Amino acid sequence: MDNRPIGVFDSGVGGLTVVKELLQHGPNEQIIYFGDTARVPYGSKSKETVTKYSKQIIRFLLTKNVKGLIVACNTISSNSLEELQKDFDLPILGVVKPGALMAARTSQNQRIGIIGTEATVNSKTYKTLIQEQKPEAKIFGQACPLFVPLVEEGWLTDDVTYQVAKKYLQSLQQVDIDTLVLGCTHYPLLTPVIQEVMGDGVALINPALETVQQFLRLLDRKQSLRENNIPPKHEFYVSDNPKKFCEIGRRMLTDPMEWIHQVNIEAY
Ligand code: DGL
Repeated sequence: MDNRPIGVFDSGVGGLTVVKELLQHGPNEQIIYFGDTARVPYGSKSKETVTKYSKQIIRFLLTKNVKGLIVACNTISSNSLEELQKDFDLPILGVVKPGALMAARTSQNQRIGIIGTEATVNSKTYKTLIQEQKPEAKIFGQACPLFVPLVEEGWLTDDVTYQVAKKYLQSLQQVDIDTLVLGCTHYPLLTPVIQEVMGDGVALINPALETVQQFLRLLDRKQSLRENNIPPKHEFYVSDNPKKFCEIGRRMLTDPMEWIHQVNIEAY
């Protein structure tokens, strides 16, 4: 038993899609969330910058005595995870490997699409990890940078969102994929639009669920699940504009976020 909290972090609000799964599947666990709202987006930044920012965030989360970390950001997971796991001595799980495993398991025709930020698609990490499972799989990547601001604006099913989705997904409609990875934490919120554009024959993979289940299994194996009768009090930290984070967060989580603080992350 380990009653310490789990650290979850992202470049901004997107990681709340992972928090949502954690609240549902590990309701007894306490969550300390950090969203780097001052420095988002990470998806257009270099690997060096993304890694440097991630290390600052981990140093901050370690001050909260976390027992393990979920990197709830595809951009960080696909570019910096190995270095973070090497530098810090606690369990760290990213969203990309679980998402890749799920995609490899789901696809019947071995033709899989990946959508995400530029940094995620260009890293080819999903491709590498899927082909480790299924060497014959064909992977088709497409960056969809405008999906992030559309989600943050709350335009989840508006006409403009359909138009943008049609344009981005056009190339993927032509290559006969049967599985599409939502390789950015914001994209699960656009599931209805993406499903409609791609059609019912394409299975959408949300890596968040598989990530949370893997992380909870890992804690269970280490006998590190929280076993406390007191309901957990979650804490949310951001590097800028807690009010805006709260507004968007309310759309993503049904639970209210009561405890939000701003942190000077550059100091870590
Ligand atoms: N959270 C990021 C991801 O999953 C998307 C937003 C960003 O570009 O920082 O890749």
